[in-house]
Amino acid sequence: MVMIQEARKYQAFYTKSTPIVDYMISCLRLTHTDKIFEPCGGDGVFIEAILAENENAQIDVCELNSIAYQTLQNKFSHYSKIQVRQCDTLLDSDLIFLSGFGGTYDKIIANPPYGAWQDLKKRAALKKIYPTLYAKETYALFLFRCIELLKEGGILSFIIPDTFLNLHMHKGIRHHILTHTKILELALFPSSFFPGVNFGYANLSIITLQKSLSKIDCLNNQFNVFNSFSNVNQLANFKKSESRGFSFLQKDVLTNPDHALLISDNSRITNAINESKLKIGDIASCVTGFYSGDDKTFLQVNSSDLKNGKNYDLVDPKSINRDYQNIPDILEGIEGEKYFLPIVKGGNTKYLKPEGWFMNWSKKAVSHYKTDKKARFQNPQYYFKFGIGVPMISSSSITASLIENKLFDQSIVGIFPIDKSITYYLLAFLNSPTCNKLIRTINPSANNPANYIKKIPFVLPSDEQKAFIDKTVKEIIDSIKKGGVCNEKLEIDLYEVIKIIYEF
Ligand SMILES: C[S@@+](CC[C@H](N)C(=O)[O-])C[C@H]1O[C@@H](n2cnc3c(N)ncnc32)[C@H](O)[C@@H]1O
Repeated sequence: MVMIQEARKYQAFYTKSTPIVDYMISCLRLTHTDKIFEPCGGDGVFIEAILAENENAQIDVCELNSIAYQTLQNKFSHYSKIQVRQCDTLLDSDLIFLSGFGGTYDKIIANPPYGAWQDLKKRAALKKIYPTLYAKETYALFLFRCIELLKEGGILSFIIPDTFLNLHMHKGIRHHILTHTKILELALFPSSFFPGVNFGYANLSIITLQKSLSKIDCLNNQFNVFNSFSNVNQLANFKKSESRGFSFLQKDVLTNPDHALLISDNSRITNAINESKLKIGDIASCVTGFYSGDDKTFLQVNSSDLKNGKNYDLVDPKSINRDYQNIPDILEGIEGEKYFLPIVKGGNTKYLKPEGWFMNWSKKAVSHYKTDKKARFQNPQYYFKFGIGVPMISSSSITASLIENKLFDQSIVGIFPIDKSITYYLLAFLNSPTCNKLIRTINPSANNPANYIKKIPFVLPSDEQKAFIDKTVKEIIDSIKKGGVCNEKLEIDLYEVIKIIYEF
């Protein structure tokens, strides 16, 4: 147990994969005179691999954890050109000093900790040293520090999650990479290739960079992204001439929204994202919904068979208010006995969710929501309005369903078009494979927070297309209301029209 806690604290997941280590070492293009840095030594896998190529290699190693530091000392203290220090690579004053003088290393290789836990004091110190970066995600800080530590022309190879390619919070590190280095290559592969790791939220990448002081050279640099590996052994053996991925110019990536690297098999998708004049955020408000702070107390269900509804009380049908839209100051709560209101929650259902959940909206409860620390009485101007709900987490594809003047909870992004007449079109689009391709290119993880939904390109349909879509969506909703399921044939017709509108 203690071992596991230590591993989590220091994110000590060692690179026990010969193909990964071999590939990274080959990316470094080692020479005998290189001055090499390993910023988070672990038990020394990379050091051993470098020594196998050159037993006189000059390597500086840092490691924070005292046990791992001892192991490194025991293994390498008899190598006169290997210096192991117990220190924090992100805060160490010697390293900060060397960075300030334009760097000192020819080569750097690392598997840095990802999201290692940091106390508030350390986070504050990191924020000060790395003000443009997201301090909670340690790997980006290691990458930044190591770019600074490279000499001009020096090369580094890092194995890190692929989230730095497009997540909003990594905009700063992307800008730094694109303007201070030439990306030599980027390999992308499933996290399951890494022994003992399989984080569902992202894949892994190995990025190899060369430091350059010429911003023009950096921006004119073209690099290859290699993906579609079916097993880890292919990493060590693939020929770089094989067409296994994509090629990008750094200046093109820099001009993308948020400097995101959009990797998609279909250039139409990336062009649509980069060139669209309108985004969903321009034509609709995209907002997160309500949380009571204590759902066990305030939320009730209309059936104990409701999915995830077992632990909630059953609502008394007589306490449900069906006339709440006519209450003028509904955001102040309801007087009297009928104070439960329908609320739309997460769950991947298309077009229309069956009613199941009811929130206590008495005056007393609402005043609690407005003052309780855990509650989120956020974006109330959108409560009880006609709009669309997209669950924050998708199971496979993005789904959207109507919010028919109901409350919606924080697991949902509420989308409220400024022009209400496009609501059905937007609903069909958000459920379409076309939209799914767009959002997964913008953000490959299964999350759909409001900020990413806002970036999805929006294309207006012709009057004819809109009339067809409105009619078909209405048919689908009517049939669901009558107790039917979503009509697949009608859905396919809808998605064909959307494919024509978006051209993919
Ligand atoms: C993911 S492991 C990788 C170790 C080794 N390079 C490998 O590939 O097997 C990260 C290592 O960094 C160390 N570490 C974590 N935070 C550190 C920091 N701030 N400075 C230096 N080392 C750190 C951990 O103790 C751990 O040994």
